[in-house]
Amino acid sequence: MGKRAQQSPQNDDVVSLLPSQRKKAKHSRVNPVACFVGKPIPNAEAQSKWPRRYSKKGEKGSSNDGSNESDCLQAKCHYREANVDGVIYKLNDNAYVKAEDGKPDYIARIVEMFETPDKEHYFTAQWFYRAEDTVIKDHGNLVDKKRVFISDVKDENPLDCIVSKVKIVQIAPNVGTKKKIPSCDLYYDMKYTVPYLTFSNIVNEPARIESDSTSTISSESGSNGCVADSNVANGGKCQHNSSDKSEWTLLDLYSGCGAMSTGLCFGASISGMKLVTRWAVDINSHACESLKLNHPETQVRNEPAEDFLSLLKAWVKLCEEFSLIGSERSDSDLDVDEEADDEASDVKNEATDNPSDSEEFEVEKLLSVCYGDPNGVKKSGLHFKVRWRGYDSSEDTWEPIDGLSDCKEALKDFVTRGYKKKLLPLPGDADFICGGPPCQGVSGFNRFRNKNAPLEDVKNKQLIVYMDIIDFLKPKYVLMENVVDILKFAGGFLGRYAIGRLVAMNYQARMGMMAAGSYGLPQFRMRVFLWGALPTQKLPAYPLPTHEVVSRGVIPTEFEEITVAYATNEKCQLADAIFLKDAIADLPSIANDESQDEMSYGTTPRTDFQKYIRLKRSEMVNYMATSKSAPRRVLYDHRPLQLNKDDYERVCQIPKKKGANFRDLPGVLVKDNKVEWDPSVERLLLQSGKPLVPDYAMSFVRGTSSKPFGRLWWDEIVSTVVTRAEPHNQALLHPAQDRVLSIRENARLQGFPDCYKLCGPIKERYMQVGNAVAVPVALALGYTFGLACQGLSDDKPLTTVPFKYPKCLASSSSVDTVKDEKDDSS
Ligand SMILES: C[S@@+](CC[C@H](N)C(=O)[O-])C[C@H]1O[C@@H](n2cnc3c(N)ncnc32)[C@H](O)[C@@H]1O
Repeated sequence: MGKRAQQSPQNDDVVSLLPSQRKKAKHSRVNPVACFVGKPIPNAEAQSKWPRRYSKKGEKGSSNDGSNESDCLQAKCHYREANVDGVIYKLNDNAYVKAEDGKPDYIARIVEMFETPDKEHYFTAQWFYRAEDTVIKDHGNLVDKKRVFISDVKDENPLDCIVSKVKIVQIAPNVGTKKKIPSCDLYYDMKYTVPYLTFSNIVNEPARIESDSTSTISSESGSNGCVADSNVANGGKCQHNSSDKSEWTLLDLYSGCGAMSTGLCFGASISGMKLVTRWAVDINSHACESLKLNHPETQVRNEPAEDFLSLLKAWVKLCEEFSLIGSERSDSDLDVDEEADDEASDVKNEATDNPSDSEEFEVEKLLSVCYGDPNGVKKSGLHFKVRWRGYDSSEDTWEPIDGLSDCKEALKDFVTRGYKKKLLPLPGDADFICGGPPCQGVSGFNRFRNKNAPLEDVKNKQLIVYMDIIDFLKPKYVLMENVVDILKFAGGFLGRYAIGRLVAMNYQARMGMMAAGSYGLPQFRMRVFLWGALPTQKLPAYPLPTHEVVSRGVIPTEFEEITVAYATNEKCQLADAIFLKDAIADLPSIANDESQDEMSYGTTPRTDFQKYIRLKRSEMVNYMATSKSAPRRVLYDHRPLQLNKDDYERVCQIPKKKGANFRDLPGVLVKDNKVEWDPSVERLLLQSGKPLVPDYAMSFVRGTSSKPFGRLWWDEIVSTVVTRAEPHNQALLHPAQDRVLSIRENARLQGFPDCYKLCGPIKERYMQVGNAVAVPVALALGYTFGLACQGLSDDKPLTTVPFKYPKCLASSSSVDTVKDEKDDSS
């Protein structure tokens, strides 16, 4: 999987996007007048400009202009002008070009005009794409009708295919401001390239040396591909080198326990920049607790993302009301809530000493803010948590803003402090937003999927909310993660929508699929990632694999080209794949009923993976003084979901060998990979009287699955760490112990460093781990993000990373000191 097959169109949806498959323009109307005008371009000039047109007859020309043609039409001579139906066309003019009947005309720039030795008249078209011609497809309506995208795709077409002139202007992509578009038929501000479905700034467009009567360049792009916010006609400069900022801020939406942002911050740190997760939002309180525990620097909000968006909007209004916008602020400690609580509790002591006799309640202080229905009265709105004078925290209540009209001072004080400390991000405050909006409406397990209108399914609504938050906050960078199903379900409807929204918001965008196993984990786990970057920034690349991994064949044929991997003919040095044994064999034996959340290792690491995954926080690259680091190595969360007595009895009978599962139990026969009862064996019962081999195992996937009670083996790579730990329909038994993999073992398969402790009931912790973005994948993406921010990357969609996981977690001072230590935890 470190390598990918050469691109091969296999499917209609993909075909229409591939340059090589772009349909050639159709010969035009009946008897059009189409001929060249004026003298041919002098031979020497033409031959130096278009040498492949003048190679020896019969010789195959090689194309370096973006066309995939291996046969190159030969030219007798080239021209600068042509007359089609009485209209003069010059080189670099833009024109509509006849498409197949019933289809809208194509749009092209005429970049070459030539006559063949057989006296045929041709022009070379450099194609523009309408939004609906790109991956955005059915969501073309999201994008301004007059906006097109230039491409590198060029091919030859008969001169008489030209239909009419079209005035296309190039403009600077202005973010957040209404585009000022000069009078034109169409305009473009970005390039569309098929590899990794990339929309990006226009870099190094060759200067138009020929006359150009229908194109107006109303802007120019910087040599590094960044375009300034302002109209670049007046000499815009790239602003991306904001990397001298001391700290970049990250908002993690749908954060779960924070794996994605943790990895991104690690990777950015390795690239030499400081990225800090300032805000995180998740609806699950246990996940929020885990994130807070591991990231004390983060303002963690336990609320639905849709309420968070309403809150952000209300917060801006409050800041405006108190004339705060534009006044000075600090990036320092954001723990406003905690501070408020502490201060309030100090006051409380005084207040308790002097209890008020009055019946009237008086607001002492506002402690926090939320949007929603915290009192469960079926009325959503802006609420503040109130500390009442003379009462302690147990009497705090959530009050709607309407009820606080006579506490303007308390409100002003709270909003002012919140504003100063960036309690909530205002538009422009979050440099980077990451997150994986859940799209449960696409899951293959969900029988009630709405194929016709996936965005109307409430289970997919978060994709809209996510994009709306981006639209409101306008971060410089965006990274969305999701399951591959968003590209498979309903023709990739949701994936196309996501890109369409970003492009419509004037973000550069590119999409890639990454397999966690390619980055040093014994887990395949393919996920989709979508980068977005403002035109003022450099669009990050996707990090190429660092490890070999065995393909699981789950790549959908559609969008196959966006798998992040080396091409088969490319040289690369991939490390050997990591197997289960490499990742977890050092962990101490535990029983099915293990109940300790913390223990000492009592063992020595045997592989690099085991050695570096055990690093203490203080030994890591981006250790922050505010983080707590345990003085000694402690093993957290190494306990399994306790199986009930029946399942435990079953598991004890599954042999400890590769590939073992319920099929190895007495009484089960397998014929043509299908199970059936062995009539010669009496059905065995457990002590409880229930059958040893349960019916659901026999009937799972009509008897063809070997997953129920499956035992993993040491030399295996698991398919995907899931959120549940029941062994009834998945293989997750430990190779050598009679239990399911522990939370920590799953966490290791996801690349969590051992010091990342999780909170909540056992099942919730499994869920947090199973939901996570694999840490090394996020880390590698954080690294390429860091390179882009610092202007250290080129414009290619893929790049190599100079490290391996998890060794890259070690700070330079600890990398040599983390020796093959004996257990130091005792
Ligand atoms: C796939 S997980 C995210 C994992 C996370 N990115 C990580 O790397 O650890 C999706 C998360 O979305 C949260 N979620 C679901 N609906 C939500 C909503 N409406 N608002 C906020 N969070 C939500 C879930 O609680 C879950 O933690």
